[in-house]
Amino acid sequence: MPALTIARTTQPKPRVADPDLGFGQVFTDHMLVMDYTQGSGWQDGRIEPYGPLTLDPATLVLHYGQAVFEGFKAFRSSTGEVVLFRPRDHIARLNASGARLCIPALDEPFVLEALKRLVHLDADWVPRTFGCALYVRPLILATDPDLVVRPSRRYRFLTILSPVGAYYREGFRPVRILVSDRYVRAVRGGLGAAKTPANYAASLLAAEEAKAAGFTQVLWLDGTERTFVEEVGTMNIFFRLGDELVTPPLEGTILPGITRDCVIRLASHWGLKVSERRISIPEVIEAHARGNLLEVFGSGTAAVISPVSELVFRGKSLSIAQGRVGDWTQRLFDTLTGIQYGKMEDPFGWTVPVSP
Ligand code: COI
Repeated sequence: MPALTIARTTQPKPRVADPDLGFGQVFTDHMLVMDYTQGSGWQDGRIEPYGPLTLDPATLVLHYGQAVFEGFKAFRSSTGEVVLFRPRDHIARLNASGARLCIPALDEPFVLEALKRLVHLDADWVPRTFGCALYVRPLILATDPDLVVRPSRRYRFLTILSPVGAYYREGFRPVRILVSDRYVRAVRGGLGAAKTPANYAASLLAAEEAKAAGFTQVLWLDGTERTFVEEVGTMNIFFRLGDELVTPPLEGTILPGITRDCVIRLASHWGLKVSERRISIPEVIEAHARGNLLEVFGSGTAAVISPVSELVFRGKSLSIAQGRVGDWTQRLFDTLTGIQYGKMEDPFGWTVPVSP
């Protein structure tokens, strides 16, 4: 296993009060850094003071986007204990994304230990307020300084930490969503299942146009027929149709969300009918017309559960749950956050303490 060295900062930064935290604006005192060179593999890890990178302007990632990242959270429980939420699943997904982008796999047990050390060192930055958390952002960049289009022979793995509040300005209030049939996020055989910057770059124009029209985000349809629902904004999507909870299946175009998995497992655990199946926009419209579209919500690490109050498709508005938060949406939010903040039992072993 690689070694880990720690160089503490001599200039700790000023803190920002929890109510003033936005999302990803403030960063802690330290970061984790690890380099890879072809032939030698991943080298020892270093925890260093947080600071800027020096990159050659020819650095491969800047030109061709060979990079993957992750996002997960550390929470402070009511007893003061700091826990990471499903870190092993996020590290495994980082490697799965890396495989799609020709990025060499990290040693998962080592990375988990290194991230625990990093969060433990900056544990005082973990917010104390419900709804706030410490966001952990691992990232791997291709660092070869040349312009040939091929997988890099050098990489840098970094992890930075950011105390965060709510992702959406609306918090847990229901949001309005525009169904996009003009732009698509991903196509079959493409990058949709990988957490890679290109997917987020591809989403920007649609999201900006939706925001200008008064919506919070877009609902993405499939890239071929523009009929089947895929994701909402940067989140996975769920529909409650009567007594069935439906979410699109993982067929390569959708990010295998960890919160998506939590929702499926919780709902199944409660005996609810959960279907991972294709769902088309005509089916959603028809269910709405029959009064069977009871709840819609997005799931993701950043916003956890985000209720949807309205979907607009080609000028047709579907109002959901009279703009209120539905029962299943509320129960899922309460249970997930209850487990994260240590207020409820964690029967699934999702939380991992950072203390040594
Ligand atoms: C999430 O829901 O966690 C995301 O993917 C958003 C993140 C890129 C800020």
